[in-house]
Amino acid sequence: MPSSVMPTSSNITSAAIAAQGLRKAYGDKTVLDGIDLRIPAGSVFALLGPNGAGKTTAVKILSTLISADDGQAQVGGHDLATDPQAVRAAIGVTGQFSAVDGLITGEENMLLMADLHHLPRDEGRKVAAELLERFDLTDAAKKPASTYSGGMKRRLDLAMTLVGNPRIIFLDEPTTGLDPRSRHNMWGIIRGLVADGVTVFLTTQYLEEADELADRIAVLNDGKLVAEGSAEELKRLIPGGHVRLRFTDPDAYQSAATALREVTRDDEALALQIPSDGSQRELRSTLDWLDSLGIEADELTVHTPDLDDVFFALTGPTSGTSPAYHPANTTDSPKENAR
Ligand SMILES: Nc1ncnc2c1ncn2[C@@H]1O[C@H](COP(=O)(O)OP(=O)(O)OP(=O)(O)O)[C@@H](O)[C@H]1O
Ligand SMILES: [Mg+2]
Repeated sequence: MPSSVMPTSSNITSAAIAAQGLRKAYGDKTVLDGIDLRIPAGSVFALLGPNGAGKTTAVKILSTLISADDGQAQVGGHDLATDPQAVRAAIGVTGQFSAVDGLITGEENMLLMADLHHLPRDEGRKVAAELLERFDLTDAAKKPASTYSGGMKRRLDLAMTLVGNPRIIFLDEPTTGLDPRSRHNMWGIIRGLVADGVTVFLTTQYLEEADELADRIAVLNDGKLVAEGSAEELKRLIPGGHVRLRFTDPDAYQSAATALREVTRDDEALALQIPSDGSQRELRSTLDWLDSLGIEADELTVHTPDLDDVFFALTGPTSGTSPAYHPANTTDSPKENAR
């Protein structure tokens, strides 16, 4: 084990993960085009991006599985290029695709990991039993992992990652394919890790997941980080708060649309949208204004931008211009109706 790790500046060491100008291309396709990151120890960082954005590539580079073409990074205070062994010793990785071997039991999978970490046999058994218990897998421990449900496999995957007690873990889409209950269970597990001081680097397709878990969120598109901040900061980046008025009577709708003029119309749904920041003050003045015009809608809903809006606004081939991600079009989503 190398003991001559150069002490880096305190600025870098207080970050669990730091990267400058990371680049990666496959052939002439640039996947990462200069990525800078700074993730404080003990925090949760979520990397968002559409399919093929380069999330897994970033995880693979930072976890030493592949090398970057350019740029540098430090993980756990160790340089990726000069000290990959020390990086590997500091981290745990739960890949996008399961590392679980289905032919052997959950317990055997765990013991295999203990062997890989060179834990003495007794210690390995103890750690395996503790983690199986913690992830509610004790009853299934002696069954072949191929018989596990998707959620159980994902829990086993994460339990295996934790065998070496890593202080920094990478979770590449930890809850993809899990039902809502299993997803919430996984969130609880991740929060538990964070409470223990573990730094979590997570990728996800679920904006709600980033919203729930992450201290900082970065959005990857076209090889670049197009936005970074807390969920609240990202939501503030885009406009889109509005009050939506829905009418059942086409005549009432028409006269309201004529009276309000500047609003966004949805003639099919007989709905009008008035920009609003969702604050009580603005809501009151909007209602007063409607009253003064004698407009009475059959239904009034307040829409504040969510991370979905941010995602659509920042990612995709036409990001920033297409009306498709104007929040005007999100109000009818099944998600909203299901609330
Ligand atoms: N070994 C490889 N050889 C060639 N191209 C690759 C290789 N690995 C990844 N790519 C390409 O790099 C791009 C980014 O892939 P990556 O797996 O990092 O995306 P992702 O953001 O994780 O996507 P997803 O959400 O679907 O998991 C894709 O266009 C992919 O086809
Ligand atoms: Mg991926």
